[in-house]
Amino acid sequence: MAKPIGIFDSGVGGTSIWKEVEKMLPNEKTIYLADSANAPYGEKSKEEILRLSIKNTEYLLGQGCKIVLVACNTATTNAIDYLRSHYNVPFIGIEPAIKPAALHTKTKKVGVLATKGTLSSSLFHNTSKLFAEGITVLEQEGKGLVELIEAGKIQSEEIRTLLQGFLQPMLDQNIDCLVLGCTHYPYLMPVLKDILPEHINIIDSGEAVARQTKAVLERNKLLSGVAEPEHVFYTNADVDILKDLIDRPTAQVSYLDF
Ligand code: SIN
Repeated sequence: MAKPIGIFDSGVGGTSIWKEVEKMLPNEKTIYLADSANAPYGEKSKEEILRLSIKNTEYLLGQGCKIVLVACNTATTNAIDYLRSHYNVPFIGIEPAIKPAALHTKTKKVGVLATKGTLSSSLFHNTSKLFAEGITVLEQEGKGLVELIEAGKIQSEEIRTLLQGFLQPMLDQNIDCLVLGCTHYPYLMPVLKDILPEHINIIDSGEAVARQTKAVLERNKLLSGVAEPEHVFYTNADVDILKDLIDRPTAQVSYLDF
């Protein structure tokens, strides 16, 4: 029996990663956990993020998942080292795409929009130090954005106002790349494109993560070849908000108190 890829996030945002994975690995079964009842993770302590990440991982492993994708920047930066050293399956994490931004920037100024939990993590600081030598990285906490996305208010005036306030100081300092350091934020792309001048490169990690997942499955001889794989989604909050974002009529989306 083909084993599924397990994916978890603090909520609905990781579905932006799931979409890239499904595109790149169309013959793989998936199980997605949206821990929306506990979102946002970005405002929690490292210990709490770790506890929630362990809970999600153990549920997915109990379902027979062969690999776990931590589709949440905050959980990755705070928990992935622990998960990798305590469980016997490969883990894929989401790190802010500092490296591609550092390679692209001409002004040598890069903006990063992420949660407090990500920006304060040592993994984020080590990545910045490693890949952004000689580049100014302007960090901005996206306070309030995850809550609005979780509430299904993606196109709202509140989101636009928050984003304008977050982005203008970075634009004033002449960034030419904006890294989306939270898997919820790709859903803001239409508003971001509307607010930002055309020359700003908006970079997210989705495709790179899907490529990495494929490579790790290949390397570990874990690829499946299911003709019509099933995709199961669980949320411990609002089923309809998750369903709307996934936008796949054949996906099975249910409430689960995990
Ligand atoms: C959050 O739950 O605060 C955001 C998730 C992320 O960092 O991707």
